Amino acid sequence: MSGDHRLGLRPTTTEYTDEPLRVDGEIPSWLDGTLVRNGPGSFTVGDRRVNHWFDGLAMLRRFRIEDGEVRYTNRFLRSRQFRHVREHDSLRFREFGTDPQWRGLGHLRRFGTRAATDNASVSVVYLGGRHLAATETPWWTVYDPETLRTRGGRQFDDEVGRAGPLAHVHYDPFREEIVGVATRLGLHSEYVVYRVPDGKERREVVARVPIRHPGYLHSFALTPNYVALLVPPFRTTPLALLRDRPFVESYRWRPELGTRILVVDRERGELVAYARTAPSFVFHHVNAFERAGALHLDVAAFEDASVVDAFSLDGFDSPDFSPPGAELRRLQVDVETGHVVTRTLHPGHVEFPTIHYARCNTQPYRYVYGVGTEERSPDGYVDRLVKVDLGERRGRFQAWETWTEPNVYPGEPLFVPRVSLQRSEDSEEAVTEDDGVLLSVVLDADAERSFLLILDAATMSERARAVFSEPIPFDFHGQFYRSGERPTRSMA
Ligand SMILES: [Fe+2]
Repeated sequence: MSGDHRLGLRPTTTEYTDEPLRVDGEIPSWLDGTLVRNGPGSFTVGDRRVNHWFDGLAMLRRFRIEDGEVRYTNRFLRSRQFRHVREHDSLRFREFGTDPQWRGLGHLRRFGTRAATDNASVSVVYLGGRHLAATETPWWTVYDPETLRTRGGRQFDDEVGRAGPLAHVHYDPFREEIVGVATRLGLHSEYVVYRVPDGKERREVVARVPIRHPGYLHSFALTPNYVALLVPPFRTTPLALLRDRPFVESYRWRPELGTRILVVDRERGELVAYARTAPSFVFHHVNAFERAGALHLDVAAFEDASVVDAFSLDGFDSPDFSPPGAELRRLQVDVETGHVVTRTLHPGHVEFPTIHYARCNTQPYRYVYGVGTEERSPDGYVDRLVKVDLGERRGRFQAWETWTEPNVYPGEPLFVPRVSLQRSEDSEEAVTEDDGVLLSVVLDADAERSFLLILDAATMSERARAVFSEPIPFDFHGQFYRSGERPTRSMA
């Protein structure tokens, strides 16, 4: 029987603990640690389901890799939202695309439903000595990395307060601090750039940037001296936010505004450039660096925000689902003049972009990994893992390598270097940037199950796979934590 990508939306019903997986192939002996991923585990609320992929109930998944063996654990986050759904068959808080009052049957609508969700399904972050499940509301959740059990809500009692943080943060190993951004929505909206130095718990405000009509931000760019925010013309207004409806429905696509690029000096905490360029929509920055007075911002750019609606469950859960694709794009911003030059790094479709984060974040780099679709016929859902070589040959970016097989749907590939910078006294120069593996959770639709794929990042050839007995719902983001080390971050 042949399945399709919709198996990646089937709810999980069982929680497993250290379930041994069958390993095909050979796991590199140096690969030792845990991959923790976050994403929706179920879309069911009573006899209905939520509207959007982003609204599913958060489920942590862990692949523990040890001595060539792999064990799988999964736990739903016991958020207040989760408990309410299980006890009352209804949502307690507003989600990204679903209102507790089920907009459309709005006669029951009332005040008090605008509270933001604590269903933290987007990513995992190690911050202030705690492992956190993160989302785009102030309500992050602490979990136990050993059991994946929920420990409780993380209340940030600090200067950033209840501004909605992006679920993507950056780690700067040179300054030894996490850097994040939050959006405070209201009559006087602002973006808040913050930092958390290693060993500290409180978020310290670096800069506040007022914005009249805030654009939706999902990630941002970090360089040694700057934070850059790419504000798409997917904007909201204070009035729109007061209406009682799903978060995303407060936003409108207004291409006439173009994309704004706000550049903040990290040291001075000041806005130093306010540039404008053609409209586009970005979920994910790839990397950023400084060169000759210019910021180079690499992103996975969509033509517009239609991708947000495309991932409504009704759309995603149809057999001929074909969402818009993003291309790799570089925006070169002159910090003095605000002049922006844009060029396509690769025209194929790439999303969930990752890099050798520990070595290349904020620095010039060469390799991007991601999920993609066939280069010349970009219809259909992502069905391959891709590697793009940004090394210029005769002025052209040309290398594009893939891993694929029929009827498989891979998730975000995380790069794990063979040589840990924390362990090695060697110069990293001696090791090529793609010396390591990619870890991706792949849905095998024909076999109706998922597996953890371990790819050689240099050759994009398979080293091993660890096969689970069921489909695992499509996830969003994760981290790899190497055994015996403090947690490192594979990506933002
Ligand atoms: Fe993301």
